[in-house]
Amino acid sequence: MRIDFHSHILPKMDDGAADTNESVKMLKLLADAGVDHVVLTPHFYRQNENIQKFLERRQASYERLCSVLEGVRCIPDLTLGAEVFFYPSLSSDPDFDKLCIGDTDYILLELPFERFHDNFFSEFMTFMNRCNKRIIIAHAERYLSFGNTPDDIKRIRKSGRNIICQMNCASIAEAGVFSRGKLLKLIEDGTISLLGTDAHNMAHRPPMFAEAEKVIVRKCGKEVFERICADSEKILSPKH
Ligand SMILES: [Fe+2]
Repeated sequence: MRIDFHSHILPKMDDGAADTNESVKMLKLLADAGVDHVVLTPHFYRQNENIQKFLERRQASYERLCSVLEGVRCIPDLTLGAEVFFYPSLSSDPDFDKLCIGDTDYILLELPFERFHDNFFSEFMTFMNRCNKRIIIAHAERYLSFGNTPDDIKRIRKSGRNIICQMNCASIAEAGVFSRGKLLKLIEDGTISLLGTDAHNMAHRPPMFAEAEKVIVRKCGKEVFERICADSEKILSPKH
């Protein structure tokens, strides 16, 4: 199953879709790419609002979107989530559980855009020891821009037994700041096992799932892409 684990499609929630029209266009593009399921993950920054307030805004935005989707055919299934910016006391927040993706016990976590020094690793390790949830590291490849190495990404992933990593489709699909070879290696060796478009809009950051799939299949083989689909499905499966 093709699942987009990271998107900013909910209207007027964050710096993503500006209105429901744009949301629908993004979802149609994903449907055309064969995406079966989209996880809606607006930014959550604890310094700006509390979890309860965020959830109320998210629900209102979701209801606005659902109202315009009535009667629209061939739209991927939708699940609510959040892209939660890391803060050390996150797991002690009483509403922490409510940030999970749908009915799963996975949380999509965004780490700070900085070089990960030893004190960050120990802070993160402490968080993981206290955290009773499973963690998906959002756009794991983006941290390579800040002086971190693939080994640092692997170290983050091994900071707890419940950590998996997601890569942005655009990072693979577009020639950019990242070495494509380096990124594909992280997929091949299983360091990164999920995909997300991190789509924000149709103009500058559109969904690029199909483009990423093409590159992965061409460079790594169909079986690697199929492994991503199988791992993705397991996460949303109720038995998991
Ligand atoms: Fe994002």
